[in-house]
Amino acid sequence: MAATISQKLGALLYILLFTAGFYCWIAYFCAFYYGGIITRTLLLLYTAYIWLPGLGRVAPTHGPDHAYFRGNPAWKKAAEYYPMTLKKTAELDPSKSYVFGFHPHGIISMSAFVAFATEGLNISKIFPGLTFHVLTLVQNFFTPFVRDVLLQHGMADCARQTCINILKKGHGRAIVLCVGGAREALLAEQEQFQIVLGKRMGFVRIAVQTGSCLVPVISFGENNIFQVSRPEEKSFMATVQKYLLKAVGLGFPLFHGKGLLVSPVGVMPYQSPIRLVVGAPIEVPHVADVYSEEGKRVVAEAHAQYVKALRGLWDKYKNQYALNRKGTFKIVDLPPPKSAE
Ligand SMILES: *[C@@H]1O[C@H](CO)[C@@H](O)[C@H](O)[C@H]1NC(C)=O
Repeated sequence: MAATISQKLGALLYILLFTAGFYCWIAYFCAFYYGGIITRTLLLLYTAYIWLPGLGRVAPTHGPDHAYFRGNPAWKKAAEYYPMTLKKTAELDPSKSYVFGFHPHGIISMSAFVAFATEGLNISKIFPGLTFHVLTLVQNFFTPFVRDVLLQHGMADCARQTCINILKKGHGRAIVLCVGGAREALLAEQEQFQIVLGKRMGFVRIAVQTGSCLVPVISFGENNIFQVSRPEEKSFMATVQKYLLKAVGLGFPLFHGKGLLVSPVGVMPYQSPIRLVVGAPIEVPHVADVYSEEGKRVVAEAHAQYVKALRGLWDKYKNQYALNRKGTFKIVDLPPPKSAE
């Protein structure tokens, strides 16, 4: 079905938000350059506020208390555009706290944002009593204006201490992490499920240390909304991508979508269904010192349990939501299990 204008604009809004850091810095420098003394003073005060520890920096490191933009109706339109849906496989008790692992990262983690940082899918009705915080790179919170928009969606930075600060606030907190990060973004390809998880222990440590449950999430279709060109191994482009990943921690995949109006190539994502499946919560033992012998053992066991649950979720839903898959589910930094499809 053709998308309506408002659905297209909803989808476009996230693309703008995702790339907004770039425009915001340009706007900032233009305002500074052309502005008078008052504009410049205000900009400097604002920058000091967001950069200095103890001032505005507190919000992203402790999770914002208000999130007024989550209910923006544009996000409902964005969800309708693909369309995007969410399947819950178990209830989540709001007297506990949760660490959601979201896979795959895709190019821009569109569905992690729309599902958990907005009311686009009515998440507060699906999981009543939970407060969601989608976590992203700390760099975003040093960027003027973008920072405030993200905070108003309940987002915070993904530093270990931030996760702990939020989960310790009390019951019903849920943090959402795109566990595979930039490395997984570079593996995004249509109809493929290449996951970076085998050596990612940090999110499990946080759950163990704070006594939170782990919740696996698969977003079937997140990888399908853009066309990606993965450069050949060892090619010049692949080397540049690897270098940038190492140097600045960001993935720069080469991708395109379609145009907003008629052009076949542009930044608009394709209208391809995105089906999120939220797995059952995994209870993990609570160990205060995750680096003790016992802590390490518990973390390794919980990680193995999580990997198993994620594979189980894939196996259960692949024939429903990944009918056109080309590759199978693969955790690239783990040897494949014997019984893999
Ligand atoms: C969200 O809730 C509203 C009001 O109850 C309903 O009209 C709408 O269809 C729901 N949206 C989704 C995506 O479930």
